[in-house]
Amino acid sequence: MRSEIKKIAINTGGGDAPGLNAVIKAAVISALNRGWEIIGIREGYNGIYHLDQFPNGTGLIKLTYDLVRTITSDGGTILGTTNRGNPFRFPMKTTDGKIVEVDRSDEIMAGFKRNDIDALIAIGGDGSLTMANLFAKKGLRVVGVPKTIDNDLEQTAMTFGFDTAVSFATECIDRLHTTAQSHSRIMVVEVMGRYAGWIALNSGISASADVILIPEIPYDKNVIADFINNKVSKSKNYCIVVVAEGARSKGGDISIIEHEAGKSERLGGAGEKIARDLSNLCKLEVRAAILGHLLRGGSPTTFDRLLSLRFGAAAVRALEQGHSGVMVAYDPPAGMKYVQLDEVANKTKMVKLNSDTLQTARDLGICFGD
Ligand code: F6P
Repeated sequence: MRSEIKKIAINTGGGDAPGLNAVIKAAVISALNRGWEIIGIREGYNGIYHLDQFPNGTGLIKLTYDLVRTITSDGGTILGTTNRGNPFRFPMKTTDGKIVEVDRSDEIMAGFKRNDIDALIAIGGDGSLTMANLFAKKGLRVVGVPKTIDNDLEQTAMTFGFDTAVSFATECIDRLHTTAQSHSRIMVVEVMGRYAGWIALNSGISASADVILIPEIPYDKNVIADFINNKVSKSKNYCIVVVAEGARSKGGDISIIEHEAGKSERLGGAGEKIARDLSNLCKLEVRAAILGHLLRGGSPTTFDRLLSLRFGAAAVRALEQGHSGVMVAYDPPAGMKYVQLDEVANKTKMVKLNSDTLQTARDLGICFGD
């Protein structure tokens, strides 16, 4: 039988996503209404174990109604976040200058004990939820909340942040039609999404792209060039090509900008690469644009606000019901369900090649370069 909850903590890890503050608000109010205390850990787990960076308890914020009342519509996270320094594989410099990874998770467990924290709500993507799972296995009561603009988490129909990112990408691609048409150009636009093509696929279809390149379907540049040259000679004087940052050619590699110990790989360059190829193979002039971090900013859409509030409240209910080592997952039309973090950790939800959305794109005549 689990002990009664008196005090919980909440943190946000990985890249920021629209809706983080709404999750925090719902969790805080739901916890306070149950008579629990709730504190926010700053910047992932940093606030609880980097005591030199956050002296005298400044890494922990006591969360109140007043702090969260108006934050549903705010982008970012009031707690701060980080996607570096996984405490289970923390990069440290040895005396001879080498970087080695050490496990500092016990310091965090000690931090939870020192501060009388009974349970944690961990809001994050794959990296953060994998860590949350490891903490659950060490005995911490943990409930995860699926966050990421990339929508690449298993077991949930959707992550929060995705709808806002797709909506904004769609608006941006809509705007590129004007220049593409006026100048008779191929406009290539690269969107985030890491190793999955959800943002590119959904925004590309919605914004009438001609070509969509996603990691799930390695492309052949000659197929794309033939498609564009043919289309241009027959029906259209311009083309819109939407490229996921993780897209790659058949037999080629994903474009990576940087990979350092303790940090996740930074992707980028997929758009520039295909733009260069198409300028050599097509008659039209080519320009490339990168939407990048613009997709993580701004106020969450109504859908993301509601989903985030539902996730935050469901996470508190999960703790109240005695769950641990689970993630709250969106399961329409029923609502929310709790799934084991083991089923989510270290996994990537890719676009299904037989999905209705992908089939719709093909029926609309969109080229995937295969
Ligand atoms: O996971 C969210 C995301 O925005 C990815 O789409 C992207 O690859 C990555 O984070 C970028 O991370 P950073 O902010 O460290 O550049």
